[in-house]
Amino acid sequence: MAESMKGLKRTHRCTEVSNMNVNETVTVMGWVAKSRNKGGIIFVDLRDRSGILQVIFEEDKCGAESFVKAEKLRSEFVVAITGEVALRAGGINKNLATGDIEIIAKDIRILSESETPPFPIEENSKTKEEIRLKYRTLDLRRPDLQRNLILRSKVVSIIRNFLADEGFLEIETPILNKSTPEGARDYLVPSRVHPGSFYALPQSPQIFKQLLMASGYDRYYQVAKCFRDEDLRADRQPEFTQIDMELSFVDIDDVLDVNERLLARVFKEAIGVDVPLPIQRMTWAEAMERFGSDKPDIRFGMELKNVTDIVKDCGFGVFTGAVENGGSVRGINVNGQGAMPRKKIDALVDFAKGYGAKGLAYIAIAEDGSFKSSFAKFMTDEEMNNLIAALEGKPGDLLLFAADRDKIVFSVLGALRCEMASQLELTRKDDYRFLWVTEFPVFEWSDEEERYQAMHHPFTMPMEEDLEMLEQSLAEMESGKGFTESKDSGMSRARAKAYDIVLNGVELGGGSVRIHQDDIQEKMFKLLGISEEDANDRFGFMLTAFKYGVPPHAGLAFGLDRMIMLMTGAESIRDVIAFPKIKDASCLLSDAPSTVDKKQLDELCIEVKVSEE
Ligand code: AMO
Ligand code: AMP
Repeated sequence: MAESMKGLKRTHRCTEVSNMNVNETVTVMGWVAKSRNKGGIIFVDLRDRSGILQVIFEEDKCGAESFVKAEKLRSEFVVAITGEVALRAGGINKNLATGDIEIIAKDIRILSESETPPFPIEENSKTKEEIRLKYRTLDLRRPDLQRNLILRSKVVSIIRNFLADEGFLEIETPILNKSTPEGARDYLVPSRVHPGSFYALPQSPQIFKQLLMASGYDRYYQVAKCFRDEDLRADRQPEFTQIDMELSFVDIDDVLDVNERLLARVFKEAIGVDVPLPIQRMTWAEAMERFGSDKPDIRFGMELKNVTDIVKDCGFGVFTGAVENGGSVRGINVNGQGAMPRKKIDALVDFAKGYGAKGLAYIAIAEDGSFKSSFAKFMTDEEMNNLIAALEGKPGDLLLFAADRDKIVFSVLGALRCEMASQLELTRKDDYRFLWVTEFPVFEWSDEEERYQAMHHPFTMPMEEDLEMLEQSLAEMESGKGFTESKDSGMSRARAKAYDIVLNGVELGGGSVRIHQDDIQEKMFKLLGISEEDANDRFGFMLTAFKYGVPPHAGLAFGLDRMIMLMTGAESIRDVIAFPKIKDASCLLSDAPSTVDKKQLDELCIEVKVSEE
């Protein structure tokens, strides 16, 4: 039977009790992590969010009534215990913060009993994630998840303090919205009052934060919930949190400066890591060329080498074919892996195919300098030697080559590079290497839609140097030429004032300088194939607002979940979100999403087309 707390007050959290309190009487409350009856003496590990404290029940000290209650204790019972702090009689436990003391119980109340939990509440749980997520309330009692969420809270508070000191105002923007332009699918909310109309949940506060700049708020930030209906992965959730900001009267350097100081403050204060400033910058083009990725992990080398010139006239059709089709041939050198068994190389080929490669060519150099290769028979000795030299191949190295369109070559080798680093354990999680990636292309070609799309969003300012190039593209377009994918066209080459902050191969945040001149904005819409009517329909309220005086402005948003994931070393952002969703965007705890009553649907004038099953 559960007892009440009447007349009782907690004096300490478990680990707030220390050897400074010896001989004092304290009252602690929490969950029974473990209870062992050693006949005449009962040891209880009491747990709260601060940690674990050992309590001892002996009948002559706590009285018969309390002792009987203590005998009944099981895991996850909630109890209040009053007792005297003593130095541990049975030797110090170095693994516990409170390992040198114990509480000699005088009194106990059982505040709540517990059924046997479906899995043990312990650090690094081996229980399947589905079961843990179904019983997330219990899972969240585990020390590792508690540490993650406590750190998350601390980080947000450091960020709030920092941004307040820098003159930022925290302003909330609407959740029930018109569709935003981040490019993922929207989550829609039907309107009851306007049957047939829908709100969209924000993919980001992008438009509203720009409106706040037009309204003169100068420096805005928000801890903003964002919603995107996209394919989920370890670092993607359908709802996630951004640290979102926007600044007026600034250019790129101002935004990067305040944000790298923010990162340095957060990493130092939250986890004691020094972030050397300024953070290294690299253009998008260089990042792709060297690492095959716009979010390169710079903790290790294994950089891509372009060998197109060496192989363009060779006898290997795969290579020359790729070059003839406007593509390239590039390779990486996996040092010391020349003896990799054929089976493992085949697995790498399959891995590459997962990224769109048609194959993967290799040269495995033996310790004696001889080599095995999947394509040597098509090449002259000189060509082979040149290839090996270009990749600085030494005895014992494994050289991997991809030949295709640049986009695929980069994606394949960029991914292989990270896969090899992971297999060979070349990186440490606590080695934090930040990188700004700058000068992103304004547009990217979408194979699916067969047209150019905004790489960041349509409000991103092109670099001044490249405006002329875009004028030309526009002229071509207006003279009736449609755009096709071409890496030499202005559409492919024009660079934007857009930047990402990358940490250890993860895109931690991104932003841009915005277009505040309506003539440029108009041209951008045209280039993107967004008609005037369409633009007005989607963003008209913003375009109108910008007619009444808008300052130059720029901003950025960090993915808070990813930041905490990297700071805690968690494998997935699910481990730093209290109630995450799984891959199919459902919540195993609450069973959301779920069907609703017909009455509710009727009120919304909605008819569901899917059948019951
Ligand atoms: P962007 O779309 O790059 O920019 O998003 C900013 C950051 O948010 C994080 N993020 C995610 N985290 C978890 N799950 C997701 N599904 C997810 N999607 C994005 C990433 C990303 O870098 N409005 C612009 C910012 C701006 O221009 O100021 C924006 O939303 O860490
Ligand atoms: P094939 O002649 O198709 O059997 O290919 C010979 C070798 O080239 C094999 O090792 C293939 O894996 C490799 N290969 C095929 N296509 C590509 C490609 N696009 N890039 C790199 N290597 C490839």
